[in-house]
Amino acid sequence: MANSVGSLESKSKGFGATQRSDLWWLQPAATFAALGLFVVYATVAAFLAPGPVTWSPNEAASSALDSHTYLSPFYSPAWLFSLGNSIGFPYPVFAILWIPLGFRMTCYFARRTYYRGIMGDPAACAVAEFASRNYKGESKFPFILQNLHRYFLYFAIMLVVFHWFDIFHAFRSVDAAGNHEFYIGIGSIVLFADALFLTLYVFSCHSIRHLLGGGSKCFTCKDGTEKATHKTWGLVTKLNAYHGLFFWLSLFAVGFADFYVRVLVGHLE
Ligand code: FES
Repeated sequence: MANSVGSLESKSKGFGATQRSDLWWLQPAATFAALGLFVVYATVAAFLAPGPVTWSPNEAASSALDSHTYLSPFYSPAWLFSLGNSIGFPYPVFAILWIPLGFRMTCYFARRTYYRGIMGDPAACAVAEFASRNYKGESKFPFILQNLHRYFLYFAIMLVVFHWFDIFHAFRSVDAAGNHEFYIGIGSIVLFADALFLTLYVFSCHSIRHLLGGGSKCFTCKDGTEKATHKTWGLVTKLNAYHGLFFWLSLFAVGFADFYVRVLVGHLE
């Protein structure tokens, strides 16, 4: 957030003042556009269809009990949506959306990204911030809520499981006799990409890295448990180096998967 150079600039010349001559504004502008676009799309999409958006590849499938083949990831798992519906949750899709929303909003990488790209606090190094003030860290309301991230992680892991379960439906079809058979279409691949990138994003999380290795006292001990802990921690650490990339890939994949299913069912016509 605040930095001394940015604070000095802002006091003297206001937001965005800097002596930098490079294209420092490009990254925050691109972030603003990408995050803004996703938030607008997700909000409109959720209000457009508060119920699950599904599509089946053939008529026979739509008459089967588990008829849905492609389920928009915005509504996964469908049973949570039904629960929200049954208890009269206004716009039951939000019975699900609070999980990815809370997880992403409190993500360490996302915080840095939207503090810079949306709040301009500061937009880049050595650039005057939007509002000069004494930054108290994330120890005071509302920023203290960012500490909920480690708890959102548990729900996000469940979401990963549900997304993979939906893949199971995306790769099978039902023939006229009601038999299930292997099926692969563009939608199957699109939903697979969503589940894969979500998995990489969640399992490269800083909190999961701490969860798996943070409590370890001795990584070099011969003890079997410590060794195993070190191995899993090392694996997550390797993934963690690409966490930012996975953030963007999974965001794009979930948005595109929802868009794709909606196009198939004619929701966006
Ligand atoms: Fe980004 Fe946990 S730090 S998801």
